[in-house]
Amino acid sequence: MRYQRSWRGSEFKFVRIPLLLLQVKMPRRWCHKAEAVALGLIGFTCVLFLLQPNKSSPISRGRATPVPPTTVAPRAPDPLPECRENASVANISGFAQLPGHIKDFLRYKHCKEFPLLLNVAEKCGSPETSFEVFLLLAIKSSPGNYERREIIRKTWGQERMFAGVHIRRVFLTGVAADAREGHKLSQLLRLENKEHGDVLQWHFVDSFFNLTLKQVLFHAWMETRCPGVRFVFNGDDDVFANTDNIVQYLLGVPGAGDQHLFVGQLITNVGPIREKWSKYYVPEQVTASKSYPPYCGGGGLLMSGYTSRTIYQKSLDIELFPIDDVYLGMCLQKAGLAPASHMGIRTVGVRVPSSTLESFDPCYYKELLLVHRFVPYEMLVMWQAIHQPDLVCGKKVEIYQSL
Ligand SMILES: *[C@@H]1O[C@H](CO)[C@@H](O)[C@H](O)[C@H]1NC(C)=O
Ligand SMILES: *[C@@H]1O[C@H](CO)[C@@H](O)[C@H](O)[C@H]1NC(C)=O
Ligand SMILES: *[C@@H]1O[C@H](CO)[C@@H](O)[C@H](O)[C@H]1NC(C)=O
Repeated sequence: MRYQRSWRGSEFKFVRIPLLLLQVKMPRRWCHKAEAVALGLIGFTCVLFLLQPNKSSPISRGRATPVPPTTVAPRAPDPLPECRENASVANISGFAQLPGHIKDFLRYKHCKEFPLLLNVAEKCGSPETSFEVFLLLAIKSSPGNYERREIIRKTWGQERMFAGVHIRRVFLTGVAADAREGHKLSQLLRLENKEHGDVLQWHFVDSFFNLTLKQVLFHAWMETRCPGVRFVFNGDDDVFANTDNIVQYLLGVPGAGDQHLFVGQLITNVGPIREKWSKYYVPEQVTASKSYPPYCGGGGLLMSGYTSRTIYQKSLDIELFPIDDVYLGMCLQKAGLAPASHMGIRTVGVRVPSSTLESFDPCYYKELLLVHRFVPYEMLVMWQAIHQPDLVCGKKVEIYQSL
């Protein structure tokens, strides 16, 4: 649930900020159908590749940085007993009239442990040396979003050393809902993990209302595998995060991750949407409360290792809530911690001409936080553009002209 209020009105809204996260983001609700179609196409394409064992892997193109040694979990049977649905929820008044995904949420919300199908156990070295990882990028991705993951690997999500510190990356995934599709996509994820060592996959249905589950499982994983990580970037796979700027900013944060930090696009004074058509519809059967605690939009936010551990502790006692970023707000509230707007955010919305050409000036991206409706290839072009050694800002640069 992010910025859905402001998104209702305008398609292009740029927030000026001397910062870090370029959020290339469509509202989740708009992506829905397009994603379903894209997912199908991508799935199909992947199968074509999988059926051609002699051709070189599509995954091996353009790998930018060496990947640390990884551990791919064997295809072991589930170590956990399957969590059973709570049939009593059918007795909740009005249950029968609820949309299917909400019924599902209520049936399974008590299930908070799921087996890991794919792991990268040594992502941070060992737990004891994990403090050497300065920034862990934890990117929520649905199994079908292969192209987005590939672009991120080549651009802002590169595992690298920058400004003297280590950046590491993991994609957080579940299993595609459709059984046949899910099988193929799980095979794809296995290939990707073999190639890049950056996929965590849990054995639950990867759906919008299970994003909180994904988040909670990630915090639990971090607790055992990367407890010393200094900072975490947590976001979706359709954003562009300027990781150079993020590192520069975090290097200046006191405490090196041992103090509370939770920053992003701060959202306050909102509550559950009770309109059934909305993707964010949360009926009274899920929460009677009319307000949400302050939280940061989940498209992209930064937290310290300290805050990640605190969220983990709190999540043990707080019932799952279907909207992931709101849930983090609940955990913070329970811990007596506050989410914050990034210091540099000036809330002045700047309208940018709707022409893509004009808004594609890389110098904008030294300053802008949010940009909607970029397509993945633009991330690649933009990442390259902001790293041009001869990029001089203050002067208009039309990068399309140099292509
Ligand atoms: C639902 O409620 C009825 C009556 O209150 C009770 O008899 C029944 O056992 C309940 N069903 C479940 C699955 O809890
Ligand atoms: C099952 O649902 C009922 C009705 O909402 C609830 O009272 C009960 O605590 C739930 N049981 C579990 C194990 O979550
Ligand atoms: C979440 O995942 C569980 C386990 O796969 C599944 O049973 C449940 O239906 C999912 N919930 C939603 C809302 O998709």
